[in-house]
Amino acid sequence: MGRSDVLFASFVQMPTPTTITFSYTAYAWNELPAADQALLKDAHAAALRAYARYSKFMVGAALRTTAGKVVTGNNQENASFPAGICAERTALHAAMSMEPDAIVETMAIVVPSVTGDRPVSPCGICRQALLEQEVRQDRKPIRLLMGTPDGTVHELKSAGALLPLSFDGSFLEG
Ligand code: THU
Repeated sequence: MGRSDVLFASFVQMPTPTTITFSYTAYAWNELPAADQALLKDAHAAALRAYARYSKFMVGAALRTTAGKVVTGNNQENASFPAGICAERTALHAAMSMEPDAIVETMAIVVPSVTGDRPVSPCGICRQALLEQEVRQDRKPIRLLMGTPDGTVHELKSAGALLPLSFDGSFLEG
């Protein structure tokens, strides 16, 4: 071994992988409590009011706060495409603009045109917005119910789980 090999060897450590686990549960609508089924129905109804003129992809969201208040939202598109906003953030921002101290307990998301066993899950920007809300409510998790109209609902205990190694306000503090 030459001198440079020895130096190199002294710096090499065995890399230790970190594993982040992720799990969700699949239900049929009728296996869920009545309040959850009602929330999914609200999300479905909201989707039918979406302004999805360009994509024709209508999305509905309905959230329930710990106080039992339900707020819905849908996607609102724009001819300048990036100006549009997703259903999840429409519902979230509407709720928080009315009640800044509310705690979002569950959000249901339904896309009427997507059937089968693979419900739509929130886009990256909405994941970031949901994570911010979890931070805002002292890390109390937002449970997600992602449903297709004909049956399958994926339940995730915390929206933040959709963003491992996420960026949050703690990086901005000093
Ligand atoms: N969209 C949502 O509203 N939520 C999602 O989770 C996925 C995408 C909207 C944005 C846009 O109006 C349309 O669906 C197509 O991307």
